[in-house]
Amino acid sequence: MSTLPPASPSPERAPRLTVIGTGYLGATHAVAMAYLGFEVLGVDIDQRKVDLLNEGTVPFFEPGLPEKLDEALASGRLRFTTDLDEAAEFGDVHFVCVGTPQQMGSEAADLRFVDSAFTELARRITRKVLLVGKSTVPIGTAERLTTLVQEISPLGAELEVAWNPEFLREGFAVQDTLHPDRLVFGVTSAWAEDRLRAAFEPILAEGTPLIVTDLATAELVKSAANSFLATKISYINAMSEVCEATGADVIRLAEALGLDERIGSKFLKPGLGFGGGCLPKDIRSFKHRAEELGIGEAVAFLGEVDAINVRRRLRTVALIRQVAGGDLMGVRVAALGAAFKPDSDDVRDAPALDVARMLYLEGAIVSVYDPEASVNAHRVYPDLEYAASLDQALAGAEVTVLLTEWQEFRTADPAQMGEQVRTRTVVDTRNALDADRFRAAGWDYWALGRPHTAPVPVPVVASNRSQAAGRVVDKSADLPC
Ligand code: UDX
Repeated sequence: MSTLPPASPSPERAPRLTVIGTGYLGATHAVAMAYLGFEVLGVDIDQRKVDLLNEGTVPFFEPGLPEKLDEALASGRLRFTTDLDEAAEFGDVHFVCVGTPQQMGSEAADLRFVDSAFTELARRITRKVLLVGKSTVPIGTAERLTTLVQEISPLGAELEVAWNPEFLREGFAVQDTLHPDRLVFGVTSAWAEDRLRAAFEPILAEGTPLIVTDLATAELVKSAANSFLATKISYINAMSEVCEATGADVIRLAEALGLDERIGSKFLKPGLGFGGGCLPKDIRSFKHRAEELGIGEAVAFLGEVDAINVRRRLRTVALIRQVAGGDLMGVRVAALGAAFKPDSDDVRDAPALDVARMLYLEGAIVSVYDPEASVNAHRVYPDLEYAASLDQALAGAEVTVLLTEWQEFRTADPAQMGEQVRTRTVVDTRNALDADRFRAAGWDYWALGRPHTAPVPVPVVASNRSQAAGRVVDKSADLPC
């Protein structure tokens, strides 16, 4: 990752920025903008988060962000507050970065936080400033918010709203924010475009492509981009289902497809499918909005994309049940990973945690280990057993399941792992392990969409007697301590 800040903003043009909402998106944006040379005030309703950030602690796991937070705080250009009056007074450009989770009992996005941030800010605005939405919202939201804030604000019709979608990936948030592959400005006036150009001057100076557009297109770019990514993942996972039925190998298939430049290999990794706080809820909210607009047919396929993705979890549980001998009751499972992807502690709609929970509900004794997400996972599913280390999770396992492809798991030594478990049976739901190395170390390696090959026989030793009998689990034997 590049550590050099791009060109600093020109002092005479640099707007003072606020960032409303300091979650994964907002905290990163606030830190990055201060790091680039802007005066930034981060705002959140959560006093604890604000205190932590002011003390230099990032309240979630994001590689590289703590160091950049330290630098930004030391520069004196970044502060955090819960005071919206102060924010309204301070900012020339206000970025709204609050969450848009899925509504309970509906596929629609819950816009309460966005509406509240815009209206609470607007009623305090008395001079010409720009309100910029970065959150992912249904098309038409920015236009609706414009009417709303103009009604509320003392500034009236002079108050403008712009939309500037964010494409950052968790785990790469700092890099993606400082060096995005494109910027999109949804604006309704040349003045708003100029304000955004000033707010992103150092990034534009790097030659970052800029698309200036209307509000609806800017909103749509984000929904369309996330839908495309989700579709690509579900496409290869649908092909995996075909492989599962025919004995074909989805890894070789993905490799061959990806070499076609028109297709490309990115987001074509088959496995347990997508999760997290964005892709699942964004495709549902997009589909819901299209139905509201009377054009549901245009994106009806997203329902299938979602269904394929949800099926991955069920098929994974079925495979684990199968390799455990047809019944999970009392089977000790080492669940490696809980986060929705590596380098994140985010467990929102995490396929890993979902699978662990389903195994538990079928009676398995599940020991979950995640290098960073265990605390969050425990908060959501306190009933699962959480191990403090990889070895602890593996201890006595009859089936080992790789659920999130953390580097720690991908580089772990299969022979050493084999010493901890009771049965060397591994299910690689992310196609991330070296199957040959595992087989050579006597593991029975399983993955959806790939032909199953018997493990290389290993000499029987006292501590791993049960694995010599192949994948049949002897539930009566004593577990090693
Ligand atoms: C995503 C978008 O990438 C980002 O541009 C947007 O701003 C927010 O949503 P993020 O949620 O951080 O970012 O995760 P991403 O890296 O896109 O991964 C999403 C999910 O897809 C993960 O669960 C990942 O494991 C899964 N995935 C990804 C696959 O299953 N196969 C792949 O080939 C790629």
